[in-house]
Amino acid sequence: MLVTGKEILEDAHKNNYAVGAFNVNNMEIVQAIIEAAEETNSPVILQASQGGLKYAGIEYIAALGKVAARNAKVPVALHLDHGTDFDQVMLCIRHGFTSVMIDGSRFEFEENVAITKKVVEVAHAVGVSVEAELGKIGGTEDNVTVDEREATFTDPEEAKKFVEETNVDSLAIAVGTAHGLYKGEPKLDFDRIKEIKEITNIPLVLHGSSGVPDESIKKAVSLGINKINIDTDLRVAFTNAIKDFLEKNPDNIDPRKILGPAREAMKEAVVEKMKLFGSAGRA
Ligand code: G3H
Ligand code: 13P
Ligand code: ZN
Ligand code: NA
Repeated sequence: MLVTGKEILEDAHKNNYAVGAFNVNNMEIVQAIIEAAEETNSPVILQASQGGLKYAGIEYIAALGKVAARNAKVPVALHLDHGTDFDQVMLCIRHGFTSVMIDGSRFEFEENVAITKKVVEVAHAVGVSVEAELGKIGGTEDNVTVDEREATFTDPEEAKKFVEETNVDSLAIAVGTAHGLYKGEPKLDFDRIKEIKEITNIPLVLHGSSGVPDESIKKAVSLGINKINIDTDLRVAFTNAIKDFLEKNPDNIDPRKILGPAREAMKEAVVEKMKLFGSAGRA
């Protein structure tokens, strides 16, 4: 069933577990995630990035997400990942998204508050949930020193003020993760997660979660992370399965034969994440 992001994340917040938010770009990916959610009896969030919307088109993404959610036995939210501006958020709401992220992290605090507040007012009026970002979650390619990196981390006092002023439903925080593959092992600032959770008392979101060791994920969840964004790890599972199949069957030209095993491999990867995050059995 199609539900709001808030419905899913409030339960996770109350019961101290996290729900996976997986990036979707085509039918096979949507099916892989939904099959995993049903197999593990887990709530799930399907999310579309800027790249995903550009690749598939908003109408296809919305249609796929809605069909999947409507037929699923588990709660499913359709979410905009890293929404850029007010107009894009409105377009997604019009297409049936039940949750949106407005990413104002490139702005100064006051401007981030202003754009987030504007989105929250309109989205809440039509029952859509809102995620915002405070601090800067970069990519792994960024060539920055430890000091420079820590300067981009979310400040707990600012987070409290941000949540009070915007009335946002969930908050993405910068605590040491980055988008994409890591070169070394990511070091998470666990004390900061704990502090932000205590001071804001709302569902917290971890971006860039592919490549983060299982033990770190578990600890982050125990300290208050309730939504975990995963893209890269699923890309790896999908693409490795395609490579593997084509190596063994170089003459096969049937897209179904090539993508079928990739869908299955991605499903298995999602199942593992759902068990790790603690969302399995929560639907
Ligand atoms: O936000 C991070 C996701 O991995 C999105 O990547 O824009 O290439 O789809 P993408
Ligand atoms: P990863 O690609 O590192 O999993 O990050 C995904 C993400 O944060 C999407 O918003
Ligand atoms: Zn992200
Ligand atoms: Na990552």
